[in-house]
Amino acid sequence: MKNIDSRSHVRGESIYVNDIPVRQDTLFGVVLGSPVAHGKLHDIDFSEALKMDGVEAVISAKDITGENQIGSIIQDEELFADKEVHFVGMPVALVCAKTDAIARKALAKIKLDIEELRPILTAREAYAEKKFISPSRTFKIGSTDAMWEKCEHIIEGQAEMGGQEHVYLETQGAYAYMLENGSIKIHSATQATKHVQVGASVVLGIPMHKIEVDTNRIGGGFGGKEDQATHWGTLAALATNTLKKPLKLILSRADDFVMTGKRHPYSFDFKLGLDKNLKILCYQVEAFQNAGAAADLSPAIMERTLFHGTGSYHIPNAKITCHSCRTNLAPSTAMRGFGAPQAMFALEAAIMKAAATLNVSPLEIQKRNLLQESDRFPYGQVAENCNAGKCWDTAYKKFAVEKLKKEIAAFNKNNDHSKKGLSLFPLCFGISFTKTKLNQGRSLVHIYTDGSVSITTGVVEMGQGVNTKILQAAAKTLSISPRRFTIHSTNTTRIANASPTAASTGADLNGKATIMACAALLARLKDVACRELKGRDPDKIEIKDEIVFHRGKKTSLKWEKLILLADEARVSLSEHAHYATPEVHFNKATEKGHPFAYHVYGTAVTVVTVDCLRGTYEIDLVKCVHDFGTSINLDIDIGQAEGAIVQGIGLMTIEELLVDPKGKHVYDSLSSYKVPDIYFAPKTIEVVPLDSKPDKLALLGSKAVGEPPLMYGIGTYFAILMAMREFNPKMKLPLWAPLTHQKCLLSLYEGYGEALK
Ligand code: MTE
Ligand code: HPA
Ligand code: MOS
Repeated sequence: MKNIDSRSHVRGESIYVNDIPVRQDTLFGVVLGSPVAHGKLHDIDFSEALKMDGVEAVISAKDITGENQIGSIIQDEELFADKEVHFVGMPVALVCAKTDAIARKALAKIKLDIEELRPILTAREAYAEKKFISPSRTFKIGSTDAMWEKCEHIIEGQAEMGGQEHVYLETQGAYAYMLENGSIKIHSATQATKHVQVGASVVLGIPMHKIEVDTNRIGGGFGGKEDQATHWGTLAALATNTLKKPLKLILSRADDFVMTGKRHPYSFDFKLGLDKNLKILCYQVEAFQNAGAAADLSPAIMERTLFHGTGSYHIPNAKITCHSCRTNLAPSTAMRGFGAPQAMFALEAAIMKAAATLNVSPLEIQKRNLLQESDRFPYGQVAENCNAGKCWDTAYKKFAVEKLKKEIAAFNKNNDHSKKGLSLFPLCFGISFTKTKLNQGRSLVHIYTDGSVSITTGVVEMGQGVNTKILQAAAKTLSISPRRFTIHSTNTTRIANASPTAASTGADLNGKATIMACAALLARLKDVACRELKGRDPDKIEIKDEIVFHRGKKTSLKWEKLILLADEARVSLSEHAHYATPEVHFNKATEKGHPFAYHVYGTAVTVVTVDCLRGTYEIDLVKCVHDFGTSINLDIDIGQAEGAIVQGIGLMTIEELLVDPKGKHVYDSLSSYKVPDIYFAPKTIEVVPLDSKPDKLALLGSKAVGEPPLMYGIGTYFAILMAMREFNPKMKLPLWAPLTHQKCLLSLYEGYGEALK
């Protein structure tokens, strides 16, 4: 089935926040962000701004009627800076004017009196100064201390990984207006309607039932709108409530770039121990997470770093520690992979360094240590239906890795300045929110008397195709045409307390709830049909393709008639269902449990060509065997995989976030911050579904797909390193992502003279 959004997307008819027709007297808001990364805010003078024609008000911390607080996990984040500023771009004031242009002009007239303080910019600096977001945590299995002496080889080192900007096509924004009796409606570009509702409720000091949050769809979120859409929805609500006029607040790309948090940069110290057969006996890693100026989702992201510390490998003795460090960057936040890519990069870096030191292929170490059925993860869960080996072997054979190796060797022999490199990357990603309580989905299904059906769930459509999957699940359960359905906006008055659309769980949680609601409706309809057909046992009734069958025989009763009969008999045609993932639990005191419903596996083969004169590279191919379970929509799933692969490659290669010593982004726009375009993307991407079993906790056996394939991008990093080593075998391995062209060039020639000797 086609993605139900493709028609309106292509025609430009899909409705995002900025497409909602504005109401009379609507004001436009522009946010003034701090120009300074760390400082004391002594005074804001907006007298000049207020004198401008068309400026209605300037709102700041003093206008907050509730609490100046939007932290979700830890209440440590002010909506407006009050006495201090903590990062460049931290909201200080909101100018409300008749047009966006007037608001921007007025903003330039506001004078800030800030006494600058020294900013902390890296995680290691913050660690040295003991600036933490939350207590450090350690996951352990076996005993590392006792095992080091049994290791034949011990490799130690450091790795660094930079952040990543989300670059959703639709920037952050919200549109708010008053309803009656002090209620407020907020149209928000959010992945988490509930978070915006809670934020507005706390900041305005009014109960949640007075705030309605509605999200029709968003133009990409990638995690950036899980917690960080709350600011803009709350600001719009605050202004609306203060001025009693509608207010629209849409960030410009430039403001969005500076004001919103990004993927967490991480620093790592690792130590890897192997026996003489290249079995990993021991792995110890200390991760320093650059959380930025407030907690945001950092404690949860730290948790996923810990969960994925051993990647797709079985490591009998492991100790993984993570420190969440407070710095003066915009609060780092969720982004596709949620702390896992960093953990996996650190381990692959350690394996690469070991391979280089021992002069073996990294593939030998990887292959020998892959997870197997019933292996235990450091967090206590056991690998069930483990497909790690199967993905690796299938990829190896299907993509003719032996032949690729020979071709690459021949190429490298014949080319002095152009070198090819190959890598394999095995993936294992846990599906579920690591916070058990978030693993709930909800669905509200109405059948109207004409036989058409309306569905609302807690999930937000952000381009991942989740609404199409939900519609498919509902149509299959009721066995009626997909054309009978509309999936409505995500709205707090129809679905309360929704978990964010995140952790790749949207389809599983809300699709399962939808199936439950449809199944309950179907049971009632069968009763109606049974009575109508004078049968005795409703279990002998079936609906197939809109026709009622009785004892296996087709009857003349059809869907539309059946619905009318149900209404006539005063049978409810509406159902709200709630699904909670069974089996998942986790005990933070012991750091053990069964946090994931299941794992997704895969293996990526990557080949790159490096131009060793220029330090530039091209990605020849990325071919993956990926575990989709039994996909209900392979077109959507392969689209997700392809997009994630390119986003993951960007993370590892050209997307660089540098900050200057004052904490300002050096690359702060899309002309200087480079994202992969179609020319940079791999020349070939091939995603082959693994012949895999359906998982009962996945929606109709179709495994979650949103985040896992992003991590295939890690393979590109190591393919580039392999090619670079062909040119300069003595090169010091740069274990510092992203591996930009610049960095590639500089690394290639470090110690190059020596290599020539
Ligand atoms: N795909 C598109 N097109 N746009 C997005 O913003 N977000 C990703 C992924 N795929 C995203 C996307 C992220 S970070 C997650 S967690 C999942 O989609 C969320 O949706 P799901 O739970 O329905 O897979
Ligand atoms: N993944 C993504 N988002 C989240 C999670 C998670 O595990 N927990 C809370 N938000
Ligand atoms: Mo995705 S980072 O869980 O929104």
